[in-house]
Amino acid sequence: MIQALGFCPAPFFSANRDLLPMPPTRPPAWVEKAKRLAAETALSLVQSVHYLGVGTGSTTRYFIEGLGKIQEQFDGAVASSEQTASLLRQAGVPVLELNDTGDLDLYVDGADAFDPHFRLIKGHGGALTREKILATASRRFILIVDETKRFARLGDSVSVPVEVIPFARSTVARQIVRMGGTPTLRERYLTDNGNQVLDVLGLPLSDPVQMEHALQSIPGVVEVGIFSERIPDLVLMGTSSFTVERLKAV
Ligand code: 5RP
Repeated sequence: MIQALGFCPAPFFSANRDLLPMPPTRPPAWVEKAKRLAAETALSLVQSVHYLGVGTGSTTRYFIEGLGKIQEQFDGAVASSEQTASLLRQAGVPVLELNDTGDLDLYVDGADAFDPHFRLIKGHGGALTREKILATASRRFILIVDETKRFARLGDSVSVPVEVIPFARSTVARQIVRMGGTPTLRERYLTDNGNQVLDVLGLPLSDPVQMEHALQSIPGVVEVGIFSERIPDLVLMGTSSFTVERLKAV
């Protein structure tokens, strides 16, 4: 069936409605405040920084708002997406190119999931490739998250985004199915790099390093939303009781 359809996002074609992904549920009201608190704590750590990298998403949006107010403490920022670049400019922060800055002093970003070893799933905002480049190019990586992003293990319920060049979408999807995953094409969506995204559920992630490398080695895959090599140096987690925990990796 996969061959016949070219690309088969299994849940879409299943006659069994039980296999359809659950519709997204609204996060509880405390989550936004927890995100903001984590972002504000990260702002207090922007010290001795020339250039920093900035991630993408609703948590980093709070960070960007604050960056504009402490702009004299650094020289400029490299954005992980066009959306972040535009928010940085609105906040009055000089936006620079990574090719001009060299390595960065600091990278601040959110995540969709993290485990006790600080291995991450990222990319639900679609910026995974530039995010991984910036995290890798930075001396320090601070993750800002709310408590809902903490998981005992990766892969239980959070899909893994995989950026693919459109030419290779079907062949990559079939390869992922062979690896145990269920890919779904992110509809009507192109990344800032002009590529498509497969959101993959069900991958065996007991060894995230192995899976990150296995997915990266498929021809046509641009980047994978598993961050198991460049993990954060510090995780700031906003909680439902409106504290910020500074977590250490196990
Ligand atoms: C974007 C990302 C985001 O960091 C991730 O999706 C978390 O977003 P949010 O802060 O909105 O929960 O990886 O590509």
